[in-house]
Amino acid sequence: MDAAALRAQYPVFESVAYLNAGTCGPLPAAALRAAADSGLAAAEQGRGKAYFERMYEVRDALRAAYAGVVGGRPEDVALTTATSDGMAAVLSGLGLRRGDEVLTADDEHPGLYGPLAAAREQLGVDVRAVPLADIPDAVSPRTRLVACSHVSWISGALAPTALAELSEDVPVLLDGAQGAGAVPVDVAALGCAFYAAAGQKWLCGPVGTGLLWVAPRWRERLSVRTPTYLNLSVPSDGLRALAWQDARALDAPALSNEAMLAALAAHDVLAEQGWPEVHDRATGLAARLAERLRATGRAVAPRDATTLVAWEQPDPDAAAARLAAAGITVRPLPGTPFLRASVGAWNDESDLDRLLRAL
Ligand SMILES: Cc1ncc(COP(=O)(O)O)c(C=O)c1O
Repeated sequence: MDAAALRAQYPVFESVAYLNAGTCGPLPAAALRAAADSGLAAAEQGRGKAYFERMYEVRDALRAAYAGVVGGRPEDVALTTATSDGMAAVLSGLGLRRGDEVLTADDEHPGLYGPLAAAREQLGVDVRAVPLADIPDAVSPRTRLVACSHVSWISGALAPTALAELSEDVPVLLDGAQGAGAVPVDVAALGCAFYAAAGQKWLCGPVGTGLLWVAPRWRERLSVRTPTYLNLSVPSDGLRALAWQDARALDAPALSNEAMLAALAAHDVLAEQGWPEVHDRATGLAARLAERLRATGRAVAPRDATTLVAWEQPDPDAAAARLAAAGITVRPLPGTPFLRASVGAWNDESDLDRLLRAL
């Protein structure tokens, strides 16, 4: 891949050592241009029939692009507004009842804990948390759902592969916020029933985009949370209108052409380099950063071949603020002793050098 040409597409690198795709990826100029072109055309021509027809085309294109990222079929991918949006759709739509157990990990992101806590309060389900690596052995006869990270947002550790061997009756919801776009994702090999991910992180799209992949056999068992216009196969059928039979039934009620076109352009910038190359470069640079941090005596959180690197840092908030002032973007992880760098294919050794020098 042409790493320098890729990096040149993200204006942020003209001044910043940006290592924060785990929060929001760097935006490529092409994404902004796509959104601006669509917005200007809408302003000049109005948002009539052509704009709405275009919306359906763009939805299809983005769905197909996201399906490619997770190795699924487009008809199994719903377009959401965020990872947590997709996870909430699963937790609220699965028909969980009082006494059912949801098994999760003990260091999940609030984007998963929020919907889990709501399921506990509103549906009366029991939520049990164990270390991520212990989940496969902790499944009990009461477990109706396993919900955990594909890639831990704290350490960059991967979910145990044994999750793929769980009984078919215990669906697995993977939080892929730190997975899709960052590392290879093959939903079939992961053996999950649901894979929720973000458009704004490792796919570098705008905030307000995301995806939820649903295995066909679980789609039928997931009730549709908000069957609005776009979720209906024939909206003009009035009260007889039914939701699509595929994942379109779970699409977010509204996504603008501008947001979707920006997301698509951002995806294409990466896809054009080849996903295997993008993943290899990102995970390789992240491993290199972990190695260099260890060489300076820092305690790096145990991690796998992913794109996140967290290390112990005295007063992580103050350190992140000091680094930000020096033009280096990393983030402190609340409630932990860690600072976290997110390393993408768009980064290079100069970003790592700047970070290590400033530390
Ligand atoms: C593991 C994980 N899950 C969920 C989220 C929330 O993502 P979103 O804003 O796409 O819902 C994040 C964001 O940092 C995350 O790291």
